[in-house]
Amino acid sequence: MTKPLPLILDCDPGIDDFIAILMILAAPEKFKLLGISVSGGNVPLPYTTQNALKACELAGRKDIKVYPGCPGPILRPLVLEDGVHGETGLKGYDLPIPTMSPQPIHAVDFLIDTIMSSPEKVTLATTAPLTNTAIAIVREPRILDNIEEIVSMGGSMLLGNITPAAEYNFYADPEAAHILFTSGKKITAIGIDVTHQVVTSEDWFSHLDTLENPVTRALTPMLRAYHDYDIKHFGMTGAALHDPCVIAYLLDRSLFKGKDVHIEIDTSFGIGRGRSIVDWWQKRDLSINAHVFNEINAQGFFDLLTSLLSSYGSHKPKGKDSA
Ligand code: RIB
Ligand code: CA
Repeated sequence: MTKPLPLILDCDPGIDDFIAILMILAAPEKFKLLGISVSGGNVPLPYTTQNALKACELAGRKDIKVYPGCPGPILRPLVLEDGVHGETGLKGYDLPIPTMSPQPIHAVDFLIDTIMSSPEKVTLATTAPLTNTAIAIVREPRILDNIEEIVSMGGSMLLGNITPAAEYNFYADPEAAHILFTSGKKITAIGIDVTHQVVTSEDWFSHLDTLENPVTRALTPMLRAYHDYDIKHFGMTGAALHDPCVIAYLLDRSLFKGKDVHIEIDTSFGIGRGRSIVDWWQKRDLSINAHVFNEINAQGFFDLLTSLLSSYGSHKPKGKDSA
């Protein structure tokens, strides 16, 4: 029995980040969640913070600590994705105002203090613009020595989703993405090349409806609202489950196929802003700084996600219960 993975999640909930939190908390035997850091992103920081607290409370985990961080990017004005996620970030279902409070420590201080003091190497999962992580690296580069792996939802080898060129998380803060990909640490980057291969369906919703537990009762209406948006705005068959891919990867790497590459981030102010330029064929003979993916086992992903969500049915709060 392997020990639970010491994990920090940096996120900007948003519906898909919200699911990622629920996945982590559904698997306390796999993850020791050291805390959640939050940034502005899909919606402004007050909402992303509140939504992270809502996810913990819904999962029955009032012991989880949530740390608000940077409200916006390092250099550029924050671009929201509230069209996708709704004004508050969790359209489709109104969860109660959380009784939990955020921590009074800034997320960047939390990241540095926790990683530097951890007796084991920490895995950092990011599902938001990379501002908190980048600033932590600039302020204390030594954290990189005690990070096992940085797994980020972000980037695209082909089409963008916020512009023709770029995926939202890297577009929102290109300077932060640049700092990560030039940090000397190989970044595991899960881009929309694979997240667009895992999209919701009415059949899946119907199955979730049969699970009848407090988590899926809240989640399914959110997912349906998210589903309708992606169909209308992207002509897709459903909603792409971007951020859950990060947690699925940490739980079962065999679901993904990809390769080591060099990535350069376009930090211009032109049409290419935020593009992740992936040297898949290593034409530039530059050092490897990333691992990216082009294939995912979609059925395996949904089987895993559904199993995690159904585990809330036996709704014993998982891990340290403070419900
Ligand atoms: O491009 C998808 C990413 O942007 C996801 O992390 C989603 O939550 C939004 O933040
Ligand atoms: Ca996100």
